[in-house]
Amino acid sequence: MCGIVAYIGDQDAYPIIIDGLKRLEYRGYDSAGIALLDGSLNCYKKKGKVSELEKFVNGSNKEGSLAIGHTRWATHGKPDDINAHPHLSGDGRLALVHNGIIENYAPLKKALVDLGHEFKSETDTEVLVHLIEEIQNKGDISLEDAVQLALQKVVGAYAIVVFDTNDPNTLVGARKSSPLVLGIGDGEHFIGSDATPIIKFTNQVVYLKDEEVVTIKRGEGYTIRNLDNELMESEVHQIDLKLEELEKGGYEHFMMKEIHQQPTTICESMRGRINVENEWVQLGGMMDHIEEISNANKIIIVACGTSWHSGLIGEYLIEDLARIPVEVEYASEFRYRNPIIGKGDVVIALSQSGETADTLAALELAKEKGALIYGIVNVVGSSIARLTDCGSYIHAGPEIGVASTKAFTGQVTVLTIMALHLAKLKGTITKEYFKQLLVGLDAIPAKVQKVLESDGQLKYIASEIKNAANALYLGRGYNFPVALEGALKLKEISYIHAEGYPAAEMKHGPIALIDIYMPVIIIATNLSAREKILSNIQEVKARKGMVIAIITEGDDEIKEISDYSIEIPSTEEPLTPLLSVIPLQLLSYHIAVMRGCNVDQPRNLAKSVTVE
Ligand code: G6P
Repeated sequence: MCGIVAYIGDQDAYPIIIDGLKRLEYRGYDSAGIALLDGSLNCYKKKGKVSELEKFVNGSNKEGSLAIGHTRWATHGKPDDINAHPHLSGDGRLALVHNGIIENYAPLKKALVDLGHEFKSETDTEVLVHLIEEIQNKGDISLEDAVQLALQKVVGAYAIVVFDTNDPNTLVGARKSSPLVLGIGDGEHFIGSDATPIIKFTNQVVYLKDEEVVTIKRGEGYTIRNLDNELMESEVHQIDLKLEELEKGGYEHFMMKEIHQQPTTICESMRGRINVENEWVQLGGMMDHIEEISNANKIIIVACGTSWHSGLIGEYLIEDLARIPVEVEYASEFRYRNPIIGKGDVVIALSQSGETADTLAALELAKEKGALIYGIVNVVGSSIARLTDCGSYIHAGPEIGVASTKAFTGQVTVLTIMALHLAKLKGTITKEYFKQLLVGLDAIPAKVQKVLESDGQLKYIASEIKNAANALYLGRGYNFPVALEGALKLKEISYIHAEGYPAAEMKHGPIALIDIYMPVIIIATNLSAREKILSNIQEVKARKGMVIAIITEGDDEIKEISDYSIEIPSTEEPLTPLLSVIPLQLLSYHIAVMRGCNVDQPRNLAKSVTVE
């Protein structure tokens, strides 16, 4: 994780870096720092958010038209002023920021200590800047060459930017397994962990590839070389991202904005992919490999966090509708467990950011073993999007709140379209049912809008349960993964311990926890299992648990036996997750706000997990 931003040009760098760091704070926010070059080097670092850094720098020299900045999510070394980046070389000449993990930092550090280097921090990053210094000191070596040589010795993941006070017109960046984007302006250049700090100034960007080193010379332009100093071709992309997409748009938090955007973002995920009148569905990303996908021996979905939950819904959808066997794996487990996979299998990576380290590594493994790899990703141009053989964007737009909301419904929408496309092709569902599902899907955005109207009611329920220490989420079938997602949302942002369970499994353990203090949130919208869910509710009530039920409009029977109920419009069962998750997102949001938690940047979390 961690966010990096850098600038070289004619403007004052300080406001550009601070603004960029605020946009990158979703990547980590335990400390922040900036190094500015204005004849001499000024480096400021502070524990806490970028706003703390701003207060700290106030009144000091902020001059300079070359600068690097960093917002940190600690891996090696606690979050404090010393471990914050940038890190400086022993002689104070070099300043460096880093996102990633240097896995062999311990032997490198030992060798450097033996050579007389003294370290100030507990970070792996400081080793890197001393290593570059050591190489530079050996001879008349340019910063670019020294960076290339140093990185040849490094094992691990890195995105770095570094400058040398003795060479004030040069900025060098490099990456491997952590993202880095170069922004090309008019006589000025930017570097960012993603395009969000850059978009205000230019939409021309180059996504650096693994083991590429970019060297920017003020007034001259940039070159990209690999670690062996060979010149690399760079493709300039024009990005289509508007600044207002990165703002809160009148909402108090990004999360609330993103929850409310879902009627629109679900439409975006469907745009050009379904046509109800013509009874047509097509996920364009599958077309080049449609034979392989529709005849796959099995599909394996790999993902982490919320994306893993949408993967579980994908399993239900694809198996139920298209009759292809699906397995859903935590990417972190899949990559290390010698999975049986090969030609004829399809591996789908689900990822909002397209940068999650474990998901990327799982895909690389699957590719090596000969599987076709497919990406369902939100961030355009991200590493996963570029690695896969084929894929589909969810087009949800930037998701900034750390807790994922609109990306989840975007992923589920795309998976639904994938299942329908495959089902139609394979003839595994009747024409009538296909049509019903298509009509149902088309109606989902308007129904989501309707569910959003329960916000006031959910706020009230939140006020009733905000002091609970634990919560249980139950669901069956398509709504079991929604129960997991509801529990994750609550623990992520409100720090209340919550667990999601298949409703029937409650009897095998969680029922022991139920008492008057335990809110039990039950998703009771499945028509096929309605009677069984009714029994589950009775079981909770018999033990004096408080039942909050998500029900289908007009289901008075469940309403009556529940303490609180939220109605969602009726829809086809495979589509219910797109509606039933919305009240759970709102409930968590209100509870977190009432508990005074930082909703958009919960403690210890980061939006994009680019380390293992
Ligand atoms: C982090 C985020 C989650 C996200 C997960 C997977 O844990 O906080 O919101 O679901 O990473 O991220 P991805 O970008 O791969 O979907």
